[in-house]
Amino acid sequence: MAYQECINCKNKYDIDEIIYFCKRCGDLLEIKYDYRKIITELNKSNWENAPLSVWRYRDFMPVKDFAKIVSLQEGGTGLHHSRHLSKILGISQLFVKNEGENPTGSFKDRGMTVGVTKAVELGVKSVICASTGNTSASLAAYAARAGLKCIVLIPSGKIAYGKLSQAMIYGANVIQVQGNFDESLEIVLKLSEKYKNIYLLNSINPFRIEGQKSLGFEICDQLNLKTPDRIIVPVGNAGNISAIWKGIKEFRKLGFLEKLPKMTGIQAEGSAPIANAVKNGKDTIIPVDNPETVATAIRIGAPVSWKKALTAIKESNGTAETVSDEEILEAQKLLAQTEGLFVEPASASSIAGLKKLIEKGIIDKDERVVCVTTGHGLKDPDTAVKISKKPIEVKANIEAIEEVLELRKNRSLTILEERS
Ligand code: F0G
Repeated sequence: MAYQECINCKNKYDIDEIIYFCKRCGDLLEIKYDYRKIITELNKSNWENAPLSVWRYRDFMPVKDFAKIVSLQEGGTGLHHSRHLSKILGISQLFVKNEGENPTGSFKDRGMTVGVTKAVELGVKSVICASTGNTSASLAAYAARAGLKCIVLIPSGKIAYGKLSQAMIYGANVIQVQGNFDESLEIVLKLSEKYKNIYLLNSINPFRIEGQKSLGFEICDQLNLKTPDRIIVPVGNAGNISAIWKGIKEFRKLGFLEKLPKMTGIQAEGSAPIANAVKNGKDTIIPVDNPETVATAIRIGAPVSWKKALTAIKESNGTAETVSDEEILEAQKLLAQTEGLFVEPASASSIAGLKKLIEKGIIDKDERVVCVTTGHGLKDPDTAVKISKKPIEVKANIEAIEEVLELRKNRSLTILEERS
């Protein structure tokens, strides 16, 4: 039914062939389906009554044996109508799709449930990835659940502590590379070419993208199939924006959607090869040699899925923008304090990008916008503590607290006190 196809020369490969790049032209692969068959299956499966989750969309996934699914109940995250924040930013309707609500705290779980299920179907015993943190946390969890050996390469000293602790406690073989993410990815690509029994689960693997496309399905389903005008996504290695766009296009192909949203990618100023290409009207990227940003999750200079991302932005008539570290941290605080959503810095870049694009007049005030926040704030508690008001330490008695809170100066409270 499903098969793998090169995004460039359209060469086809069997669904069970372990392959990451086209043998003919070297480009990326994607999973293709017989969509008539999907419609027939959908008519039989009563899928619309299933709860919101990645596996509600099982008929759209390249999995043969549903009994082998490796799941931690991923997907089904909240689409929060953010009225306070939309008022502050001056936009009519804003929704935040909060992916930190996934089992390991990021959108990566959507891809890993499908990717690790594929690993089990293929019968491999080891899985590997390079990661700025979230991919490694997620892969380590799903590998543990599936009983697979897990190897993760992370840039030393530059990954948020929460993520590191996850990969470690799930029992992965954690290797800190004295280099950045791009160098680590290059090594795992070589390793997985050399050792065919070590299955690569970075987003170059098209099965990961299949799981992540459910993010696009869910957004549309949660809005009762009324497509938003725009979806804003933080971009690092560029798998996620590509995946969301694939999902949206599939829903459209199946006749569920009347229109398509503008895909809008946000990158940090110091790591912005894709946003720079879009801004300069180029159809290819210039990699950034030494990427830097406080948003360590998207500290990537040579995004592997850049071509898919540029296609998504172009086809959808979308755009891309860069945001500074300062703007990212300000947006992180603003989202937490107006909507009660605590997200990690990389995730807040979508909010920072929204603000900037409204100010520039590129986003219309009447647009209905969905911002994707990709990972939970607790992944990186150090940054949150650094940018927040510090706790006040006092002696352990009520008077000390009253003094700090200036309660005695507050008239209404004094009256209450007098009555009691
Ligand atoms: N937001 C967060 C929180 C991420 O962890 C990542 C990627 C992205 C956004 C960007 O998504 O790469 O699909 O464009 N993190 C990867 C990792 C690279 O290793 O955890 P992308």
